[in-house]
Amino acid sequence: MGGKITVPELRARKASAGRGERIAMVTAYDATFARMLDAAGVDAMLIGDSLGMVIQGGTSTLPVTLDEIIYHGRAVARGTQRAHLIGDMPFMSYQTGLRDALANGGRMMKEGGFESLKLEGGREIADVVAALVRMGIPVLGHIGLMPQRVHAMGGFKVQGRTGEMAESILEDAIAIADAGAYGIVIEGVPAPLAERITHAVEVPTIGIGAGVGCDGQILVCYDLLGLNDSLKPRFVKRFEEFYKRGVEATKAYVDEVRGGVFPGPEHSFGLHAPTAPAASPATVRLHDATPAYGPTQ
Ligand code: KIV
Repeated sequence: MGGKITVPELRARKASAGRGERIAMVTAYDATFARMLDAAGVDAMLIGDSLGMVIQGGTSTLPVTLDEIIYHGRAVARGTQRAHLIGDMPFMSYQTGLRDALANGGRMMKEGGFESLKLEGGREIADVVAALVRMGIPVLGHIGLMPQRVHAMGGFKVQGRTGEMAESILEDAIAIADAGAYGIVIEGVPAPLAERITHAVEVPTIGIGAGVGCDGQILVCYDLLGLNDSLKPRFVKRFEEFYKRGVEATKAYVDEVRGGVFPGPEHSFGLHAPTAPAASPATVRLHDATPAYGPTQ
């Protein structure tokens, strides 16, 4: 595998215009998952504020803080060699003015290991996008269903179902692209609208709940791996059932512990034979404990 995937490479991948393959993106929140997702060849990982729900167990993304995004960003960066890393700017870290947006965006880039940032919003944040881009911070837009506006939307609901709303979302996309975003996430809109937006902007679109007509797709990694046993929205496809498999594996562990089967001799350390004249606790040492105790690969 080559080096890191860069913003210019992603920007150039306009699959709908016959320029490159579709972009495969996922969310990631820690180093172990990042290593696995990177090994699978994803193009980019988003350290999404969805961590407020997926990791923290909350009901929305609103409480997620700048410090928390930075913390998870660092962890993901440690596990990633190839995928481009995108940090989600948390709710109210960029909506309160250009100075805040630049200061908070700058902190994320300096401390979080991110290579670009994602911001939710349309025309109303075009000036913020332009200011970040001018200062050398690449921006990925996010329009349509914007989870940070869950209360204004009255829930996580598909957007742009009426002609007027659809036009408004299209205008948002054009404004964000004109402001210099290198790509745009389109979430929760009818597939024909996403396709129309994709043809209307020069930069790649990344869909989630927006049909196949985008230049790429993103899914929350816990959703695609089936780690969420509860909700399965229509737009999610589980490519595995890791929740079920995890419960089964953990049950097997519980049974083996209770039955005295685990740990077996192959998971245990022996004792060196006592040395003459008499074994004392000080002369008994763990057989090969030093090299073999920790990771073996
Ligand atoms: O926070 C997030 O994970 C997101 C993606 C699902 C697009 O915004």
